[in-house]
Amino acid sequence: MKTLTRQAPAKLNLTLDVLGKREDGYHEMKMVMTSVTLADTVTLASEPGEGIVLSSNLGFLPVDGKNLAVSAALRLKEETGADWGKLTIGLEKRVPVCAGMAGGSSDAAAVLVGLNELLGLGLTRERLMEIGARVGSDVPYCVLGCTALAQGRGEVLTPLPALLHCWVVLAKPGFPVSTPELFARIDTQKVRCRPDTGGVMAALEAGDLPGVARRLFNVFEAVLPERKAHQVEELKQELFRRGALGASMSGTGPTVFGLFDAEAPAREAAEGLKDMCRDVFVTETL
Ligand code: C5P
Repeated sequence: MKTLTRQAPAKLNLTLDVLGKREDGYHEMKMVMTSVTLADTVTLASEPGEGIVLSSNLGFLPVDGKNLAVSAALRLKEETGADWGKLTIGLEKRVPVCAGMAGGSSDAAAVLVGLNELLGLGLTRERLMEIGARVGSDVPYCVLGCTALAQGRGEVLTPLPALLHCWVVLAKPGFPVSTPELFARIDTQKVRCRPDTGGVMAALEAGDLPGVARRLFNVFEAVLPERKAHQVEELKQELFRRGALGASMSGTGPTVFGLFDAEAPAREAAEGLKDMCRDVFVTETL
């Protein structure tokens, strides 16, 4: 039996802009993404036999092709003819699920990169990103993994200078969000404020953490239903009160994050936020 273990880090949107709806039904995006150390652990094992068996520490996750990790393996086989006999995928989930942090996409990327290595397929990173784009819009970013500008559906990626090391407090409110629903809402509302993407890129170039932090911006916050928007705003304000350099929602949410330049205030802020929200994490930029 051949086995391999990889980490699948969570992503954050430093900026998120939706430029418009495309003819294929997807939306044209412009966003700056980065990754944090909070990660799932993905274990792959290949042995003689056939089929894919997925197990995870979260009983409610799908274990068939609806799970992006399985979908990625199936897509890899379809596109390259890769043969693994029987594949066992183990997911140790730590990244909150349905949270706007690309946890499922990151698992899928880890499966693609991991199987390439485990089976010695010799595929380039670009080819893995191409296959990943057919699994989900965030998968190519997760294959790349560094701070990057994402355009197109999210699959057109330009690496950027890494965000300076900082501490990140994540708070996931209890309400659910539907990604297709939020995209539909943004189609019917005029986007009045957009992120200063160029300003964030210049601040990354200059190694200016406060400059990045004060420009965090996500257009989806403005189209959340009112009560959800209110909760997100309250969490952001609390993060600011507790010393965050900047705060924003990630992806289609609902996770809100704050950037801190030191560990102690980040940990204190996380303790304080636990009164408002059950799922609170302290992590660091990768
Ligand atoms: O690509 P993925 O399957 O992750 O996308 C999930 C949903 O998000 C799509 O079905 C679509 O409704 C929406 N989406 C979009 N434009 C994008 C990415 C996602 O409309 N660029």
